[in-house]
Amino acid sequence: MYTGNQLREMFLTYFEKKGHSIRPSASLIPKDDPTLLLTVAGMVPFKPYFMRQVEPPFSRATTAQKCVRTPDLERVGKTARHHTFFEMLGNFSFGDYFKADAIPWAWEYITELLQIPTDKLWVTVYPDDDEARAIWIKAGVSQERIVADPENFWAAGPVGPCGPCSEIYVDLGTSRGCGKPDCAIGCDCDRFLEIWNLVFMQYFRDEQGTLAPLPKQNIDTGMGLERIASVIQGVESNFDTDLFMPIIKKTAEIAGVKYKTDPKTDTALKVVADHTRAVSFMLADGIRPSSDGRGYVLRRILRRAVRFARLLGIDKPFLETLFRIIQENFAHWYTELKENENFIINHLRLEEKNFQSTLEQGTLLLQEKVKALKDAGVKVLSGDDAFHFYETYGFPVELTEEILSEEGITVDLAAFSYASEEHRRLAKEQSRQMRAAVENAELTEKAKTVGPTEFVGYDHVTCDSVLLAMFSDEGELDSAGEGEEVICLLNQTPFYAESGGQVSDEGMIQTDKASAEILELKKLPNGAVTHRVLITSGVLKQGDQVTAMVNADNRKAIARHHSATHLLQMALREVLGEHVQQAGSLVTKDRLRFDFSHFSALTLEQTLAVENKINQHILADLTVHAEEMGMDQAREKGALALFGEKYGDVVRMVEMGDYSRELCGGTHVRTTGEIGLLKIVAEGGIGAGLRRIEAVAGLEALAYLREIEGQLNEIGSVLKVQPKESVKKVGLMVAQNKELEKEIQQLNTKLSKYEADTILSKVQTVQGVKILAARVQAPDMDTLRQTADMLKDKLQDGVIVIASVAEGKVNLVTVVSPEGLNGLHAGKIIKEVAAITGGSGGGRSDMAQAGGKDPSKLGEALDKVPSIISKFLGHT
Ligand code: ALA
Repeated sequence: MYTGNQLREMFLTYFEKKGHSIRPSASLIPKDDPTLLLTVAGMVPFKPYFMRQVEPPFSRATTAQKCVRTPDLERVGKTARHHTFFEMLGNFSFGDYFKADAIPWAWEYITELLQIPTDKLWVTVYPDDDEARAIWIKAGVSQERIVADPENFWAAGPVGPCGPCSEIYVDLGTSRGCGKPDCAIGCDCDRFLEIWNLVFMQYFRDEQGTLAPLPKQNIDTGMGLERIASVIQGVESNFDTDLFMPIIKKTAEIAGVKYKTDPKTDTALKVVADHTRAVSFMLADGIRPSSDGRGYVLRRILRRAVRFARLLGIDKPFLETLFRIIQENFAHWYTELKENENFIINHLRLEEKNFQSTLEQGTLLLQEKVKALKDAGVKVLSGDDAFHFYETYGFPVELTEEILSEEGITVDLAAFSYASEEHRRLAKEQSRQMRAAVENAELTEKAKTVGPTEFVGYDHVTCDSVLLAMFSDEGELDSAGEGEEVICLLNQTPFYAESGGQVSDEGMIQTDKASAEILELKKLPNGAVTHRVLITSGVLKQGDQVTAMVNADNRKAIARHHSATHLLQMALREVLGEHVQQAGSLVTKDRLRFDFSHFSALTLEQTLAVENKINQHILADLTVHAEEMGMDQAREKGALALFGEKYGDVVRMVEMGDYSRELCGGTHVRTTGEIGLLKIVAEGGIGAGLRRIEAVAGLEALAYLREIEGQLNEIGSVLKVQPKESVKKVGLMVAQNKELEKEIQQLNTKLSKYEADTILSKVQTVQGVKILAARVQAPDMDTLRQTADMLKDKLQDGVIVIASVAEGKVNLVTVVSPEGLNGLHAGKIIKEVAAITGGSGGGRSDMAQAGGKDPSKLGEALDKVPSIISKFLGHT
């Protein structure tokens, strides 16, 4: 029996022997791919090779790729084979071998190396693919074991490389099946397990769904490591393999439960094991929990893990313990689990703690909800409410159901699924919009033939250039005139296209006959820069010699903020510590924004210290020097790199004196003195363990200080004092205000006592019992109850029925004081009064509240109070 680790290695070695280069798994964050949030298959990192956007450096590769898929999130743990995180084993050909090799190799691997008996195997092919069918037969598969499946067409997303595919299935036997008479290949039960998908990647599908042949025919295969391990280890599910059991065992130990005694417990154990793996690997690749994008996917999975752990009875932090088990089992292969250990653990702790309190808060609110439902005599929680608890507090509906069932309340599950369906539909719509952002395909094609644009902007702000091609949003153009917006490709450019947080340059393109203003610059994955321009005069033609001019003042202002960002990073590390890591930045001509990891707010002293250090290094007028070098050399020099970012082999290092060294492609000042002045203008938290600093430099810093000074002057003139006296004056005014508020409060109390006295004049007596039935002013039920309490104190003994109208509805409160007075029951009285206004309600014998629908009946209802009470008194 092979372990998961052995199976991973066997696969890679087998294909290495067949001429494949073993590549490390790429990050779970797809690089330069707006169509995908996460790496979902082994082929994702190779998309540019299939599309020939980039010439592949090798023609065959094999990988064990980390993948995350979430469309089947809710099925994880309930079936034997669904996961969020999994490893995909694959072999790839980039225009090299095709079906005739890929098929017999797969068959040989499965039947000879892994020794899976052929009488357990089935194969599917795309219906038209007679070629694949013939090759399978030649490889040794018997004809009746090959099934045509029209769904055998695979693509990583709606737009991108794709092709027909062939799958290998293992029949796990009838005992694992659903037992239905038509159970066969393709049935959704656990009997027929798809273990390997061979994609014959030969088309590109565009936004309209049209297929165009790729430049070459390729192979992309994928075999889930967890699945193949379950077959080879002869266990019931992927979770029973050695890839999961250590995590499940530890979880069961923490919870004090036993695996395989109760299906519900098992599901929870499996969910926790699956989800903690996903969370650990996502964090290891630098994904941070957040409220949108991939960070949200991470947070959702993490919270699900915590919730299911709660169902197991675990109410203490456990994620770190499970992470350690995952690290023990996987870090030898995925070293990022070790390298980024601190980042992973910090986020696990923080998220778990925060969610714990959200859960607690949610539980309290759910208890309140239960009380409100009970008071109103309602026995079902609405679907919208259940969904609210799911969305806001992360309560799985099963958990809500469980808590409510103890109180005899059920959940409207149909309405809940409707609400979540609706939510999912909206989420889908969002991802559709994201795909629509994909570049115009024709332009991308052209950019490929044109190749990377040479950037001369580090040394020049103006250059001569050739207009190689021009596009409208519809397609390629020969020429375009005044008022038109077009996209230009140039052979060389001085314009910096947004990257690494630094915004694009502004500027112009000119010929002797035309001029155009730069609107937007973009760098395509192959390095070509697209210049979107507005032609302001004349006509631009393909092939024109143009002068490209960067707006130099603008560029300088951007450079000041960018260089200041480097000083800021160093200063933060000096003041706060080495754990400070850049998490994102924005550099524009008017300000800089810098996000970084740190777990508490900066104190005023820290902020000032950071600001001082930066300005000291500005005054020291350090020389700024940029140089290209090998990654290893840069590392040796201690250059700071962005965590989670992929760098090529050659990197650019920007150095400021001896103070700062960073990998950076941006444009900078020549010496730090050019920055002038730096002022921090804001500091705050933007997410778990993440802070943001905003600052201004150069002329913007001066403008900022002038603005503040202007405001101070204005305050002074409003207060009619010298600006420097303002603070004292405001202090006095605040104290005065407090005094006034106190006075108002006292007056209000007097006023309501007076009102109560007026209402008390309406007291009548029925068979010796004092009765007060009146309409009062109260914006809500709480205020109405408080008024009732106050009246009760005044009345001492008797019955109070007061009502108010708020938002078109009637609120009613009844008090019987002291409780049991002459056998009267507040709940029973209010029921009859409320009924007249078209409402219902009830409650305790001393105090009850109710709602009515028809305010026009309120007068009548209050008039009937004496007769209703007299009826009850008559019965005693
Ligand atoms: N890319 C193919 C899949 O994920 C192999 O199924």
